[in-house]
Amino acid sequence: MRRLLVASLVAVGLAGAFAHAHDNSGRKTLGFGPVHDHAVYRSTRVAPSDNFMGASTADPFDVAEEFITELTQDTDRDSSSFFIRRDSYTDKNTGITHVYARQYVNGIEVADGDINVNVKDGVVLSYGDSFYRGEAVSGFGSSTPVDPHSDYCQKLTAELTRRAEARQSLYNAGEQVVLGSQTAKADLDMGVLPSVHEWNCAHVDTPFTMAAEGKFSSNDDNMYSEQALLQFMIAATPNSGLAQSMVENPSSFVEKMRVTPVHDFHGGNASPSFVIDNVPDAVAPVKAKMAFVQVPTDGSSTLQPVWKFEVEMQDNWYETAVSVMPPHRIISVVDWASDSPMPVAPVPKEPSETPVATYNVFPWGVNDPAVGERSIEKENFDSLASPVGWHSLPFDNDPASEHSKGKKSSIKFRNTTDTWGNNVFAHENWEGRNAWVTNYRPDAGKSLEFDYKYDPKETNRTESMEEARKYINATVTQLFYTGNMIHDLYYRYGFDEVSGNFQQHNFGRGGEEDDAVIMNAQDGSGFNNANFMTPPDGQNGRCRMYLWNTANPYRDGDLEAGIVIHEYSHGLSTRLTGGPANSGCLGWGESGGMGEGWGDFLGTTIRSNKNYSDYAMGAWAANRPTGIRNFVYSLNDTINPSTYKTLDKPGYWGVHAIGEVWAEILWVVSQNLIAKHGFSDSLYPPQPNADGTVPEGDFYRAQEYTAAGVKKPLIPKHGNSLIFQLVLNGMKLQPCRPSFFDARDAIIAADEALTSGENFCELWDGFAKRGLGPGAKVEGRTPWGGGIRTDDFKTHKTCVEEEEPVPTPEPGPGDGDDDDEDDGGDDDDWPWAQ
Ligand SMILES: *[C@@H]1O[C@H](CO)[C@@H](O)[C@H](O)[C@H]1NC(C)=O
Ligand SMILES: *[C@@H]1O[C@H](CO)[C@@H](O)[C@H](O)[C@H]1NC(C)=O
Ligand SMILES: *[C@@H]1O[C@H](CO)[C@@H](O)[C@H](O)[C@H]1NC(C)=O
Ligand SMILES: *[C@@H]1O[C@H](CO)[C@@H](O)[C@H](O)[C@H]1NC(C)=O
Ligand SMILES: *[C@@H]1O[C@H](CO)[C@@H](O)[C@H](O)[C@H]1NC(C)=O
Repeated sequence: MRRLLVASLVAVGLAGAFAHAHDNSGRKTLGFGPVHDHAVYRSTRVAPSDNFMGASTADPFDVAEEFITELTQDTDRDSSSFFIRRDSYTDKNTGITHVYARQYVNGIEVADGDINVNVKDGVVLSYGDSFYRGEAVSGFGSSTPVDPHSDYCQKLTAELTRRAEARQSLYNAGEQVVLGSQTAKADLDMGVLPSVHEWNCAHVDTPFTMAAEGKFSSNDDNMYSEQALLQFMIAATPNSGLAQSMVENPSSFVEKMRVTPVHDFHGGNASPSFVIDNVPDAVAPVKAKMAFVQVPTDGSSTLQPVWKFEVEMQDNWYETAVSVMPPHRIISVVDWASDSPMPVAPVPKEPSETPVATYNVFPWGVNDPAVGERSIEKENFDSLASPVGWHSLPFDNDPASEHSKGKKSSIKFRNTTDTWGNNVFAHENWEGRNAWVTNYRPDAGKSLEFDYKYDPKETNRTESMEEARKYINATVTQLFYTGNMIHDLYYRYGFDEVSGNFQQHNFGRGGEEDDAVIMNAQDGSGFNNANFMTPPDGQNGRCRMYLWNTANPYRDGDLEAGIVIHEYSHGLSTRLTGGPANSGCLGWGESGGMGEGWGDFLGTTIRSNKNYSDYAMGAWAANRPTGIRNFVYSLNDTINPSTYKTLDKPGYWGVHAIGEVWAEILWVVSQNLIAKHGFSDSLYPPQPNADGTVPEGDFYRAQEYTAAGVKKPLIPKHGNSLIFQLVLNGMKLQPCRPSFFDARDAIIAADEALTSGENFCELWDGFAKRGLGPGAKVEGRTPWGGGIRTDDFKTHKTCVEEEEPVPTPEPGPGDGDDDDEDDGGDDDDWPWAQ
């Protein structure tokens, strides 16, 4: 009886999934994972303990390693170890070294066992820690599975039911036609979340316990990765027919898969890994690896052995952990695709020699066609960020060249005359598929004058798409221009090669290469949206921009800079949070929501000017004055009432709504810094001098020096440029899977590191205005960002006016207890307390 019921529940879900696969309202996407109640982020300086050998002259990597060794000692487990990831780096802008460690147990990677340590001058400034510290496990397969009757699972079920009901009634009441919740509506109709949840927590007895039902020849096959992968594909595919066939005849699919072991030469400590070919609905071979993940049980957590898969599909790029043992539960899943409803080695050639291109575009700062006109803009590349300009890349890094990835004996650059360069490949993708290298892109010839017509006319319905295609030259030009401008801007605030930026060639400056952003204009796979896929450093990011059928003539999202900036910022925040090689840190809940929010905030900050104004997101493309979010970004809390506690509302389940709250909080915080430091008309720092040094100009404050005469990092002079810097620096400091508290504390820590904390009170005041003061709390967090939140509108106690002003908290280990209150749900595990 029970089995039948579950089967039909899932079947309904799958049918719904199909119904929505080709709907404009959004692609199918999954994102959830265990809550780590034991994870901590400490954002105050940690003084070395007695036996700690750190010294200001010490190698920061040694300091971090020693620190982590000490931090993990109390686990008292011979089987637990860690290794320092190769994508750790020292930030040229701040001098802070960001070190990432991954935990291993019995030689197997703990996929969500992350420590990030931020070191400067021999001192640990801050760190995040989600290492497993539960019961020891022996071997690989002996962990107990999630108990479906556990308190944890029951709470989850109750929460899920409550939210589903609340959502349903919202939907029934016809509320919220904004895009963010259309995706949620699709989730609701599909029953995707509840059914996936069923598989993970509530039911051992799913229709997919294939081995148990005799659908595989032998039970010994149970641990094979193909079966776990098939289980995931059943949940992930938007094609219900295919899902049904997989359920009915799993063996036929599994037999076609081909598993090839990969022998990684580098990773002395890496878990065994494989690639799996012929996976239904995947567009590339699936990467597979054995790992552990931490799964909460009542009061603590256990390690579950899983297959960790990286699955690239048409509309998704998933990183998922599926339990090795039947019934192959999906323990966590992150979609690297995000929607928007909407000095260096010698520089190979003198920038001045490069012929400079011109583009007829909506210039930087003009958000969309409703607020400005097109004009002829120069290829105004930043010579630090793009040393050879936007239209040049080495043959060896050129996907269109036969020399690609050949022997790199001498670097030879190819100069292009189309929208193809070291940072961005822009082109049409009317077909809406994955091919891109030979897609059409305008070629301006030797003159490099990208001057094309944009003059769309009102048409009847059948002609509207064709009408938009008439200006493909103009729109690809715009996308190429905007993409390169963002690349250069973010570069100058520290999104460079070592921190994981997007470039084909890295000029010998470190980081992984061959990962420019593939930008599809007028992508045929959807309407009224945009999305960005961020695989780890060294693999191309992919941005897909769509037409919007919200007006006649259609509107082209490529022409709305805010949408392009929002999308590109997914790449920024994903690569900076948790390190360049970890794309799994912003998957769901609050962290996934902030992934959306940073894009809105940065896009809004870029378009804003000296005269304060409220701003909407995507207003032009969506043809809706208030845009695609619930509220416009505003200081006025009647116009935008969002506070931290807003996240408790049923309408705020999805990452876009969560992100909107985060962006609003940052907007309010940023205005505090602008009130104090004024406004810079341009966010672009001055071009560097010929020797690579950066002049202060009117952009930076006067250069300061340490007592030893060493240059300190340059500090942006104005409020808008300063908050831009602090937000990016904060991304580098925060832990993997950050909460709102962690991200807030990281921004405050970034200010401490950059300005010695001179904006401590402005930042706290700003956060407190929207409920994120020091006493804000969340209880009962769930895998989708659920929980009961408490706002705190009081600023930090040292900033209350009556008291003697104390600009910064006293650093040191004694501060730990005090800081715990700030951390809301975190526990009290503090190894250096006294
Ligand atoms: C690219 O242009 C630069 C300067 O304009 C020139 O020195 C270089 O030889 C060109 N590269 C090729 C492969 O033509
Ligand atoms: C749409 O307009 C085109 C040309 O303006 C015309 O040829 C075509 O018949 C029209 N289609 C419909 C359905 O009205
Ligand atoms: C795009 O520009 C090319 C020249 O670069 C031109 O030949 C072509 O006709 C243009 N396409 C459209 C649709 O205007
Ligand atoms: C700001 O407002 C003033 C006065 O209305 C106006 O002259 C100026 O052009 C505005 N500046 C910008 C950047 O919009
Ligand atoms: C905030 O907005 C409301 C509604 O538009 C308006 O009535 C009120 O005066 C505004 N408050 C301030 C302080 O500007």
